[in-house]
Amino acid sequence: MADPRPIGVFDSGVGGLTVLREILRRSPGESTVYLGDNLRAPYGVRTDDEVLAFSTQSLDALVERDVKALVVACNTSTAVGIGSFRRRYDLPVLGVIRPGASAAALATRNRRVGVIATPATIRSHAYFSAIKDENPAIEVYEHATPTLVPLVEAGDLRGPVAEAAVVEALTPLLGERDADGESIFPRPSGATVDTLLLGCTHYPLLRPLIEAVAGQHVAIVDSATATASALAELLDINGLDATAASIGEAPPATPTHLQLTTGDPERFHDLASRLFGAAFPDVARIELAVLAR
Ligand code: DGL
Repeated sequence: MADPRPIGVFDSGVGGLTVLREILRRSPGESTVYLGDNLRAPYGVRTDDEVLAFSTQSLDALVERDVKALVVACNTSTAVGIGSFRRRYDLPVLGVIRPGASAAALATRNRRVGVIATPATIRSHAYFSAIKDENPAIEVYEHATPTLVPLVEAGDLRGPVAEAAVVEALTPLLGERDADGESIFPRPSGATVDTLLLGCTHYPLLRPLIEAVAGQHVAIVDSATATASALAELLDINGLDATAASIGEAPPATPTHLQLTTGDPERFHDLASRLFGAAFPDVARIELAVLAR
């Protein structure tokens, strides 16, 4: 039997739209409700308690909208709270760390992977553990890059300011690069990675700049595609597919897509249109109660 209920997708801001975009590509028959907590982003520089409280409140709001599965399209929330979310909701809850870790473990040839993410994600070592679970022989070099999320939330994806910020963020991990993309001595230990995992859903929006800085010998991997595939499989296994019509059943309804933001809907809409084209037109504001800090 088909299940037409939407999938709930959550991020601290617009970064999770990189995951939503892949979900729409992979599962075009599914409806979605996205919630971006733009008012309180960035999460990655907050305490674990704050990340957990804000994420839980946002996910509760999605569950109230009768979603059939939750995608935590935020590495920071996944790193801090995936266990807690799974205990709280009677729904399949998918995070972005395992799919990303698995994609990186499959991509590396020299078994050296660099991970860039927010300070809270790096502090949790969730990627380190997840990559080691995939292949204990892989060396994992983790590096916090707190300046990148504010760039994306401001829509600054190119130009000298964004370029300088990406160079400054990556150099401690990868070293300075010469014209051939080789790291210049003295090289930091992470300079030998052949795979760089973008451990924050905002970072794929800076991918052209990150690729330019990392050079041609480093494969750039993110969790969006792997998460969308894992979701499709999860829906199928759990009989939650919107398009799995059986004989005699009405054809599946046309999917709907709603984006909710705790911030300014007009700003969210403008930013989403600039980042993704016209893909996300239906934006509304959602109020979440103010939590004591
Ligand atoms: N997109 C979130 C992540 O994947 C960004 C975190 C933040 O708001 O700092 O970690």
